[in-house]
Amino acid sequence: MREKVEEILKEIEEFTADSKEKVEEFRIKWLSRNGKISHLFEEFKTVGPEIKKEMGQKLNQLKNKAEEKLKHYKEKFESTETTDENLDLTLPVENIATGSRHPLSIVRKEIIDVFGRIGFTVADGPEIEDDWHNFSALNFPEDHPARDMQDTFFIDNENKIALRTHTSSVQVRVMESTPPPIRMIFPGRVYRNEAVSSRAHCFFHQVEGLYVDKNVSFADLKQTLLYFAKEMFGEKSQIRLRPSYFPFTEPSAEMDISCTICGGKGCAFCKHSGWVEILGCGMVDPAVLDNCKIDSKKYTGFAFGMGIERITNLKYRINDLRLFSENDVRFLRQFRSAL
Ligand code: DAH
Repeated sequence: MREKVEEILKEIEEFTADSKEKVEEFRIKWLSRNGKISHLFEEFKTVGPEIKKEMGQKLNQLKNKAEEKLKHYKEKFESTETTDENLDLTLPVENIATGSRHPLSIVRKEIIDVFGRIGFTVADGPEIEDDWHNFSALNFPEDHPARDMQDTFFIDNENKIALRTHTSSVQVRVMESTPPPIRMIFPGRVYRNEAVSSRAHCFFHQVEGLYVDKNVSFADLKQTLLYFAKEMFGEKSQIRLRPSYFPFTEPSAEMDISCTICGGKGCAFCKHSGWVEILGCGMVDPAVLDNCKIDSKKYTGFAFGMGIERITNLKYRINDLRLFSENDVRFLRQFRSAL
């Protein structure tokens, strides 16, 4: 028995624990009612009187040692835990990291708000579109070079189903289903088969505007766009319209605004012209109204389309389109204050 006790004493002295579970295992093995030390005390009852005193002392020593170890490790692991007594409910909470809106969402919302204040409501249409809505109804004739203006991703070549190349397709859908007056904007994502670079992307976002009623004139278009420019970029903003061509508007124009960076004096951003192009617009071509079963003798309309990325670049001076879709939080979290 003497050797056994010596051996156990050594084992207990050498014991170390790296987890609460190990400590519990130790307790069960040695100190529980059915543990090895209890068994030794049972055995002790049977030893001869010549070693009783010595063994008694040894056993007590053993038990003390085991209890000491247990206490030591229990305290060690418990002190790292929060118990009810050391939980301070008055401590300030840690800040929870909040996300932020994507810059394109911020600007889209702002555009919707600006037009909403003058009575434009919002509608949308599908991103997968047929030839009629994306091209034909908008006066892009079959085999006309105008179709090459926009490099298209076809999904089904035979049936000419494609990812829409512009939100003008929504104009057609809305005019087909809504009798005038129509005063609406259509925000959405569009796709073009382009090599991705800092200045071009295979998908981007547009907001289309459409106003169809009796006696809508070019002056209405111009005033609406001037209002938009001032609301979006500040009271001092100026606009200019340059003649242009789109198959679905006649006459057509492109609109520039006075450079938001130099205020029109000329800088690198506006290529020293003082102006930056932001949208295409025009009077809805009567043929388009007729395609959508709106009587072009009774009604006229204007339309415009702008890129949300473009407006965002002007507002926040972002010079690489790829940043919008890379989801780099170092870029995205800069817009936190603009929630
Ligand atoms: N759909 C044209 C584009 O993607 C933009 C555009 C130009 C829309 C003139 C219009 C418009 O509504 O009238 O390039």
